[in-house]
Amino acid sequence: MQRKGFIFDLDGVIVDTAKYHFLAWNKLAKTINISFTEEENEQLKGVSRVRSLEKILAWGNTEVSQDQFNELLIRKNDDYLTYIASMDSEEILPDVPRILNYLKEERQPIGLGSASKNARNILKKVGLFNDFHCVVDGTNVTKAKPDPEVFLMAADGLNMAAADCIVFEDSLAGVEAANIAGMVSIGIGEASVLHEANFVFTDFRQITNQFLQQLIKK
Ligand code: BG6
Ligand code: MG
Repeated sequence: MQRKGFIFDLDGVIVDTAKYHFLAWNKLAKTINISFTEEENEQLKGVSRVRSLEKILAWGNTEVSQDQFNELLIRKNDDYLTYIASMDSEEILPDVPRILNYLKEERQPIGLGSASKNARNILKKVGLFNDFHCVVDGTNVTKAKPDPEVFLMAADGLNMAAADCIVFEDSLAGVEAANIAGMVSIGIGEASVLHEANFVFTDFRQITNQFLQQLIKK
């Protein structure tokens, strides 16, 4: 039987939480008189909480003490947690359940590779936690995407060679991480942003079961 490791990012791929991260960062940035553009926000996708704040402060040419930095991180996450408090399966992105069910039917290993420290909690909230054979998230890694650590750990957890893994990502940093890991990268979003991916689809509705079958047989 042919097997591939299918590794999913979480925010913006499985669930529509990218918008909540944006809202929480934007609100926080305003309190310290920093504003950032939509293009800059793309650079926050896939990036750890600490790295995101460093970038925002750099865009605003602002320096803060270590204590203030830590306090800003807590405020951002507290705000984010209020956005996701009432999350349920309604926020699973279109056709994600079909894709997961198809891969399960085909007995393919399924992993999660997310920068978020809230990933396990969110998977449980939307009822998908048990669909993953291996979950690697922000609590497990030390290096942020585009470092490939998160995906290499997920491949390891699935007992798959990196070259036999396929990554679904909505961020440029994540696509780069998958490419550096030597995995097949599939961008979910806009081709203009995710041009470095091996394949790009607007969302999972464009990904057919036949396409998945081709990936499995490759
Ligand atoms: C990534 C998101 O999945 O997780 C980023 O794309 C976010 O926007 C990062 O900053 C860290 O998430 P968290 O939940 O640990 O703050
Ligand atoms: Mg993402």
